[in-house]
Formats: sequence, C-alpha cells, structure tokens
Amino acid sequence: MSKIKVALVGVGNCASALLQGLQYYSNCKKEEECIGLGHLFLGGFHPRDIQIVAAFDVDSRKVGKDLSEAILAPPNNAPKLVDIPKSDVAVLKGPVLDGVGEYTKNVVQISSQPEVNVTNALKESDTEIVIDLLPSGAVKASQWYAEQALNAGCAFVNATPAFIASDAAWARRFENAELPLVGDDLIDQVGATTLHKTLLKLLSMHGVRITETYQLDVGGGTESLDTLERTRDVKRTVKTRSVEAALPYKAEVVAGSMDYVDFLQNRRDSYFWIRGLYFCKTPMQIDLKLSTVDSPNAGSVLFDVIRAVKIAINKRLKGTILPICAYAFKHPPQMMPLETAEKIFTDFIMEKA
Ligand SMILES: NC(=O)c1ccc[n+]([C@@H]2O[C@H](COP(=O)([O-])OP(=O)(O)OC[C@H]3O[C@@H](n4cnc5c(N)ncnc54)[C@H](O)[C@@H]3O)[C@@H](O)[C@H]2O)c1
Repeated sequence: MSKIKVALVGVGNCASALLQGLQYYSNCKKEEECIGLGHLFLGGFHPRDIQIVAAFDVDSRKVGKDLSEAILAPPNNAPKLVDIPKSDVAVLKGPVLDGVGEYTKNVVQISSQPEVNVTNALKESDTEIVIDLLPSGAVKASQWYAEQALNAGCAFVNATPAFIASDAAWARRFENAELPLVGDDLIDQVGATTLHKTLLKLLSMHGVRITETYQLDVGGGTESLDTLERTRDVKRTVKTRSVEAALPYKAEVVAGSMDYVDFLQNRRDSYFWIRGLYFCKTPMQIDLKLSTVDSPNAGSVLFDVIRAVKIAINKRLKGTILPICAYAFKHPPQMMPLETAEKIFTDFIMEKA
C-alpha cells in the first residue's frame, strides 16, 4: 500500500506526540496489543502507512533540524515516549505572521533563516495532506497555510480552533479546488469537555436536575500560555455552549476557563464541579479531577483523521467532509450528538468508493 504523505505546520508538542506515536505503533500487528489506539487499521491503513514528508516552523531551535531532533527541542515539553530514528525531513522556515503572541514572544525564538516557498515545498515533497498544528491564536497563519494547501493541491486538516472548515467561504474554496477540508479544533482522546457532557447527560437521563456546573483547566504547555492571552474567551464560549447542549433544560454552566502553570509542563488538570437535585429535591454534588498529558491526547485522533482524509482523497471527495469533522473536531460545520458522529464516521469508513 502506498504511503499517506503528510506535511506538519508547527513542530510543537502535538507534532512531537504524533511522530513518536508513529514510531511506537509501527510494528503493532494485532488490535488487542495496541493499547491506546482507537483503530489499528482504518480503511485498511495501518499507522505505519503515514509518512511525514515536510514540516514547517519558525523557531531557531527547530528550523533546519531533522524532525526527530526538532520535536524534542525547547520550548516543547511533551514527554519523550520512544527513541525516534533520523527522519531525513528537515524543518523548513515559514512566515511568522501572527504565529507568536505577546505571552509567547519570550518563549519562541524566531529563526533568522530565510523563509522557504511553502507551496513549492509542498509540491516538491508530494504532500497530500497538510496538518495545521499552529498555536490556537495564530488565525492569520492558519488561513495562510490553508491557502498554500489550496495552491499546492493538498487536503487540509485544521487541528486549531481557527474557523476554517466551519467557515462556508473556505469550504466552498476547497470544494471548487476539488480537495478535502476537515476541522476545526481537534477533539482530545480523553477529553475534558466530552467527559463533562457525558456525566451531565447521564445524570439528567436519570432525572437529576443539574443546577450549576463548571469545568476549569490548568496546563503548562506553550499552547496553554498562548490560550491565556489570545483564545481564552473564544474557547470558554465554544466549550460552555457545547456543555450546555448536553442538558435538555437551562442550568448555570461555565466550561473551558483555563490558566497556565509552568511547572505542570505538558500536563493538564481539569476540574469538574457539578451540583444538582435528585429524588424529593435531595441535593447532590460531584467534585472531580482529570489529569492527562496534553500532546498524546491528540495522537490517536490524528491517526484516524489522517487515514480518513486519505480515504476521502481516494473517493475523490471535495469540500468539508462532515463525517470526519463531526467525529474528530470540537467545532465542526454541523454539531451532532457523540453517538451520531461516531455512527456516520464508521459508515463513511466502511462505504465503498
Ligand atoms: N491535545 C492537544 O494537544 C490538542 C487538542 C486539540 C487541539 N490542539 C491544537 O493543536 C495546536 C498545536 O498545539 P501544540 O500543543 O502542539 O502547540 P505548541 O505551541 O506546542 O506548538 C505550536 C508550534 O507552532 C510553531 N509556530 C508558531 N508560529 C508559526 C508559524 N507562523 N509557522 C510555522 N510554525 C509556527 C511554534 O514554534 C510551535 O513549534 C493548537 O492550536 C491546539 O489548540 C491540540
């Protein structure tokens, strides 16, 4: 089977987990041995069928370095999970645009190397799929890379919260170019918002009247620092709406409020507090903490997305691919319940071209 050729935009913590995961699972043969993977095979593709053929960043500790070295360079603080052999892909310098914010300008060191022609680099590396792993506040840079994907004839995966796949104008442009587009804002494998919604749904299904609930996140990656400055409010609005939708009635809900604690490194703590009334208005309360490491939380979902987009390419699908968006992203063009998203994704994978 031919390789799925992928370019990474942003060689940060997520890229590190993705690359390490490709190595970690490369020799895995049986589903039952592959702890931590949603699917070992998806549409006939194994994770080892994914090949990173190009990568772009702006940090001097990453640009010009082999990808295997760049993923471990600071300020990345994703844990080292496995030894990575040399990849023979050197990280290329792209334009900075709004990639670095006020809070991260002392953390990211901008390389003085000249920018490459990104469209040409995508064409020369035979990239089929561009994955946007830029900081969440880099909205202009994300749009710029979507433009380069269009120019180079590549599918585009937006893992960031910038509105691209959920924007009708961008969807039309990819449709006209006959290329797949998926996004926005990748779902975590062990997701705090999903857990929160599932708990609320379970309680309300059992007749509990939730009166108040909140979810607070604390993280120590560069992304948490960037969020604090540039996307905190947007994330809070998106997550609060999403959690509210899990209840069939109105309640006081706050979700996705966050802070940055540097010594947590790439770890993330999510706190959930739920208060409600059950039989004869007896009060109940839940206090819960979920601890995860941020970057590996993107790995399994990215493996599924890359292989599903390859299936879309093989089927010659164009524009936003709803089954992939709804299954793997927090802000798809159309929201739907988890079970429905799961079902249309499975049907999409099983359908013959
Ligand atoms: N579990 C997860 O980690 C997860 C889940 C959902 C969504 N996401 C999203 O994925 C994205 C990446 O997250 P991360 O933790 O890897 O972030 P990160 O800050 O660790 O990495 C971002 C990388 O982009 C580089 N960069 C900045 N400006 C650039 C530019 N103009 N061109 C090229 N590179 C540039 C930075 O140098 C850095 O290497 C974020 O938008 C985040 O919201 C992550």
